[in-house]
Amino acid sequence: MDSCSTKVMFMLNDRKLNVEIDPRITLLEFIRNHENLTGTHAGCEHGVCGACTVLVDGKAVRSCLLFAVQLNGQNVETVESLAENNTLSDLQRNFWEYHGLQCGFCTAGILMSLTEFFRGRSECTETEIRELLSGHLCRCTGYTNIIRATIAHARDQGIFCDDS
Ligand code: FES
Ligand code: FES
Repeated sequence: MDSCSTKVMFMLNDRKLNVEIDPRITLLEFIRNHENLTGTHAGCEHGVCGACTVLVDGKAVRSCLLFAVQLNGQNVETVESLAENNTLSDLQRNFWEYHGLQCGFCTAGILMSLTEFFRGRSECTETEIRELLSGHLCRCTGYTNIIRATIAHARDQGIFCDDS
């Protein structure tokens, strides 16, 4: 073991990891470079754009702002956890059907924030959806189709309250 490395145990997409990690490695770097889960994107790398968003213990976090060693004992979910047996999740399918992406750079982060947003929610409005999406920078879509896709998903779930 490298004298600088630290032993860490955490769950990553339902896999138990027991690893030795350089304390300077961010969660984003660990996910992409050590685990090869490249669906999570590196954008600004200082907490602004939201491209690197993953879930830690069910909460959406910016993985560029966390060190991987901080994850000890926690549960991490990345965009790769959403599809099952090569079948898109309902949220992903709505993004696909409503063209909620162009280059896709921002998409993984948005999907993970929305995953947290929709879990256990009994109702949501367009205003709430817009507020959530305002935390993610998208340089190509103009957001219209992202909002349409998200509303379509909320309607599918039977929880959309129209406040427009
Ligand atoms: S890459 Fe983490 S917020 Fe932009
Ligand atoms: S789809 Fe290109 S940055 Fe959002």
